[in-house]
Amino acid sequence: MSQTATTAFRGNPFVNHAKGREPVAIKTVGIIGAGQMGNGIAHVVALAGYNVLLHDISRERVETALATMNGNMSRQVHRGKITEEDRDSALARIRYAPAVDAFNDADLVIEAATEDEDVKRKILIALCPQLKPHTLIGSNTSSISITRLAAVTDRPEQFIGLHFMNPVPVMELVEMIRGIATDESTFHTARHFVETLNKTVTVAEDFPAFIVNRILLPMVNEAVYTLYEGVGSVEAIDLAMRLGARHPMGPLQLADFIGLDTCLSVMQVLYEGLADTKYRPCPLLVKYVEAGWLGRKTQRGFYDYRGEVPVPTR
Ligand SMILES: NC(=O)c1ccc[n+]([C@@H]2O[C@H](COP(=O)([O-])OP(=O)(O)OC[C@H]3O[C@@H](n4cnc5c(N)ncnc54)[C@H](O)[C@@H]3O)[C@@H](O)[C@H]2O)c1
Repeated sequence: MSQTATTAFRGNPFVNHAKGREPVAIKTVGIIGAGQMGNGIAHVVALAGYNVLLHDISRERVETALATMNGNMSRQVHRGKITEEDRDSALARIRYAPAVDAFNDADLVIEAATEDEDVKRKILIALCPQLKPHTLIGSNTSSISITRLAAVTDRPEQFIGLHFMNPVPVMELVEMIRGIATDESTFHTARHFVETLNKTVTVAEDFPAFIVNRILLPMVNEAVYTLYEGVGSVEAIDLAMRLGARHPMGPLQLADFIGLDTCLSVMQVLYEGLADTKYRPCPLLVKYVEAGWLGRKTQRGFYDYRGEVPVPTR
């Protein structure tokens, strides 16, 4: 094999080397979805000095997110991690965006809405006509194809997966995922942006659930099967994995923390995307989601959080 052929063979087939666009200077960041992840992303982005536009389906949800951020930043002040002035100026940099037309000012928009491909597609289709040509779009999806989401936009070259971890202010990692069309300028600008948030990047290819959730969520799903089959109770399973495998929290506690709807969506993406029955979502996980018992965010999941201490629901 010639040297040229070897080099070509070793080149990353998933990288699009398109050139020619100037790097984007990011000053204002739009965030769509003000839930667990959207409020965490807004928190770290505003503390890093960027202007933030925050949108959700209602003003009330954004106000809840602002109250959560205020509480979380105040805890950081109490622990000496930031000053009161840092908190106040960060909160002052976050503006409510009543509709996507407010994102006309944004240099980067991060989509952090519900893990449902239809929801995300509709958001992206409505968003694109409002954006300036230079604006980049990132999706915080846990599992959905970046290439497919990018394909509904008018700018697949400027679209990238930015998978923050929960809780965003605490977790150091951001997984970055290029779609098939993502260009190098977008990747480098997004990487630099993530690094200004004091996060560490790992790069994953665009396959279902990327790296972290490809490994983590089947483990969580297996814990639900273990419960479903009566191998152990909620407490027994979580205790076993905390003390027996040194996990910082049990897998069912973790599922409640992630959100059971998100866990189920990720398993469905893995099951359908990889066409392998080993990823089939546990029927008990489906039942909890159907009941609206989605974990911490609805006060009930594998544990009931409505009292002083969490109580197992099975
Ligand atoms: N929960 C986790 O641990 C975690 C970790 C990493 C990434 N993610 C991903 O982040 C995204 C959000 O997850 P989350 O845990 O914050 O969920 P969440 O349920 O806490 O929040 C989702 C928010 O999206 C809003 N939303 C729904 N449709 C919308 C629309 N059309 N326009 C604007 N807002 C809309 C909802 O009102 C809600 O406030 C998902 O893609 C999820 O997979 C979640």
